[in-house]
Amino acid sequence: MNQSTKFELVLFGSTGDLVTRKLLPSLYTAFINKTISSSCRIIALGRKEYTRKDYIKFVSAKFLDNNLSLENDLWIKFSELIFYLQVEANKSSDYIKLNQFLNKDIINIYYLSTAPDLFTIICTNLAINNLNHKNSRIILEKPIGNNLKSSREINEHVKKIFREEQIFRIDHYLGKESVQNLMAIRFGNSIFEAFWNRQWISSIQITIAEKIGVSSRGGFYNQIGALRDMLQNHLLQLLCIVAMESPISMDADVIRKEKLKVLQSLKPFNKATLNNYVVRGQYQEGLIDGQKVCGFLSEENIPQDSTTETYVALKTEVQNWRWSGVPFYLRTGKRLETHNAEIVIFFKELPIKIFPNKISNFSNRMVIKLQPDDEIKLYFLSKEPGEENNLKPVFLDLNFTKVANKRIMEGYERLLIEIIKGRLELFLSQEEQEVAWKWVEPILDKWKNSKEKPEQYISGSRGPFSGDTLLEKGFLWHEQII
Ligand code: BG6
Repeated sequence: MNQSTKFELVLFGSTGDLVTRKLLPSLYTAFINKTISSSCRIIALGRKEYTRKDYIKFVSAKFLDNNLSLENDLWIKFSELIFYLQVEANKSSDYIKLNQFLNKDIINIYYLSTAPDLFTIICTNLAINNLNHKNSRIILEKPIGNNLKSSREINEHVKKIFREEQIFRIDHYLGKESVQNLMAIRFGNSIFEAFWNRQWISSIQITIAEKIGVSSRGGFYNQIGALRDMLQNHLLQLLCIVAMESPISMDADVIRKEKLKVLQSLKPFNKATLNNYVVRGQYQEGLIDGQKVCGFLSEENIPQDSTTETYVALKTEVQNWRWSGVPFYLRTGKRLETHNAEIVIFFKELPIKIFPNKISNFSNRMVIKLQPDDEIKLYFLSKEPGEENNLKPVFLDLNFTKVANKRIMEGYERLLIEIIKGRLELFLSQEEQEVAWKWVEPILDKWKNSKEKPEQYISGSRGPFSGDTLLEKGFLWHEQII
């Protein structure tokens, strides 16, 4: 990476959770580690009547709220890169000051981290004010739209203004080290291909569990829910990387086409599978790390009768030659007992057991961990030294931090660097998003028309009871296994 590449990053939605909890911390880390130019400028836009100093104060308070440490001297230097402009996203005349402020001779990146219903007006206002030029790029944060129709409308509108190579549809999970390493492991080695199919794999689980609740994002989250916030994008993208065929090259278009084929092969839902294979839950009060936390309905800006899901789990299948018959279990939720993101590949049972096995619920599996650490573990049984034929579970551990002896970049940092380089491999195509929307829509429709409430679960638990019964007989969630 040429860390001297200069750029201006314009943040729409600069007082929101994403900017203060993820983007600015990633930029700060990149700045400290010199992976971005120290003469870039970060231009925060917002409705609030902040001065630059007020905004920086607001951001540093948010860093501290999120337990992020600030090294005094470095923070002062970093904050010199931050500017604030009072701009209403839907007021075209406000963009004049942005136009005057930007240096268009270097890369200008517009990051749309607002609610998706503002995306089209922002693009229109950028165009009216001549802010689309040869050096400009635009980042669209997920969810793009609320459903297939609105997602298509947004994308079509953005494409009238920006060329495809200027549009970066971001999913920060694709920037995570383990996800990229999964591609490297699958397609850079010959040994895995032979068993990466229905003949050897019995099931696949993809989990993103969070301890955090919706915190200050209640109003926004209530419109979105876990399915749109996490499953339609992050979980399905992870599923694509696990299930895709080998691309013939690492070109963005080639990778996107392979992922698209996976999404197109997902088994469509029908009435029976919607009833039996999809679970939604909502958290109640409980304990997280010994601290009492409130239920979803008591969070700020949540109506008392909200049926928004904070947990979703489902079973699906990729209907192609490689995967037919292999269940894929996907789940995500807030206020769960652990902070954990992982993909677990379960291998089939032995055809014949010659060792007296005292361990009843063990299976060979490969665990690709994305959170809290980036690592890959391969579980198998080995003989206990000295004990006759006594097998015990052991694992091979590939911890990327230890192996590389280097700092592991966080998803947003990596993806921002890719955007500065103008590389699209780790970003989504419009088609991928649309097929993903089309696939989840029957679930959204069912919930919209249903009088049933989401199943309640206690904060700090493993989620609703039906999350466990979703699994076919003989299968358990990874954390329930030795
Ligand atoms: C975001 C969701 O995309 O991902 C948040 O909007 C969620 O609700 C976050 O908390 C999780 O990301 P990570 O990298 O912390 O697992």
